[in-house]
Amino acid sequence: MKISVLGSTGVIGTLTLEIAEKYSVEVVGLAAGRNLSKLSEQIQRFGPKYVGVERREDAEKLGKDVLWGRDGLNRLATLEEADLVVIAVAGVAGIEPTYMAALAGKRIALANKESLVSGGKVIGEAARRSGAFILPVDSEHNSLFQLLLFPEKPQELILTASGGPFFRGKPAVIKIQDVLSHPTWKMGKKITVDSATLMNKAFEMVEARWLFGLSPEKIKVLIHPQSVVHALVRMKDGTLFAHLGPADMRIPIQYALFYPERKPPPSQPLDLASLQGLEFYEAPPEKYPAIELGYRMIQEPCSLAAVINGANDFVVESFLQGKIPFERILDVIIEVSKVHRPYPLSGMEEVLEAVREGRERAKKIIEGEG
Ligand SMILES: NC(=O)c1ccc[n+]([C@@H]2O[C@H](COP(=O)([O-])OP(=O)(O)OC[C@H]3O[C@@H](n4cnc5c(N)ncnc54)[C@H](OP(=O)(O)O)[C@@H]3O)[C@@H](O)[C@H]2O)c1
Repeated sequence: MKISVLGSTGVIGTLTLEIAEKYSVEVVGLAAGRNLSKLSEQIQRFGPKYVGVERREDAEKLGKDVLWGRDGLNRLATLEEADLVVIAVAGVAGIEPTYMAALAGKRIALANKESLVSGGKVIGEAARRSGAFILPVDSEHNSLFQLLLFPEKPQELILTASGGPFFRGKPAVIKIQDVLSHPTWKMGKKITVDSATLMNKAFEMVEARWLFGLSPEKIKVLIHPQSVVHALVRMKDGTLFAHLGPADMRIPIQYALFYPERKPPPSQPLDLASLQGLEFYEAPPEKYPAIELGYRMIQEPCSLAAVINGANDFVVESFLQGKIPFERILDVIIEVSKVHRPYPLSGMEEVLEAVREGRERAKKIIEGEG
């Protein structure tokens, strides 16, 4: 098998390459943002035919045939030589490459959640037309994908959320490092912040809607601090099926790379007898504003999710740059969502425009405060 990995220097990209190396998968394309030293090591190790980076000056530093920017990423997402494209770029930069891969009829291992959150309908339609196949890497959706291999349609999908670092209480003053200390998963900065606000779960509700085509009222969230049960489905007779596993992204990545084949466990498998107990709690929207946004995003026309996604991207960047406190993140997103009048999105340009609108509105609010 030959693969192209977008976001190769990140957490998911690095784990993907670890698995690729173990099974002698050929890496024909690598794309990263700005981490040139890690990318150079990967180029040495995997010898890809195509390489892409975010900025032109970095492409020039790396060599004469290195691709860059939006066009570079889109090219790496659609390589004819690649049997499978892994999209593990963080944030809204991943949306268009996913769409291009879908248009090109590729087999896509999709980690980037912003793609389906903003452009789920448009990407889904492109994939249906071209015959592209999307394999979710996000652990909850990877679990649901497996649970939905049952021929029977479930009545309900349940996504679990760890609750993030502040589920059991917040320090008086929240520092960036407190937010970045996720209790169960090791992830990139943006998704770790999204987990602390629970926006990550809100986005996963939207992803589930587009991946599995169930009506919005069938999508539920439960808080489960141990992150052992990743998702559940409830059948007509009330029976629940759950997917369990360690909090290790190698497992869903490996499954997405080789589906339908199952390979030996990539890490220590779950030992049920060693677990100290599993807890589950309701996640009522009245208590968790991000979950309320999640329900709105799956019920209202899709521009709302794209606008919220754009706003979230900007607000999280601002938080990580120390420009706003943690508590402001959700306030700004909610403010942006309140002034937006949702409408259906019918093409990728409209999707990207709605994302830009969300970013701009959030920027105006934050800069107005500064
Ligand atoms: N980590 C997890 O456990 C997990 C689980 C489920 C879903 N996901 C999703 O998977 C995606 C990646 O997550 P992650 O944790 O791996 O993030 P990460 O560690 O922050 O990695 C992000 C990757 O994207 C690259 N990148 C960022 N902007 C880019 C741009 N404009 N052009 C090209 N490359 C760009 C980065 O390159 P540089 O570092 O070189 O700048 C890096 O390789 C996210 O959408 C996340 O929501 C992650």
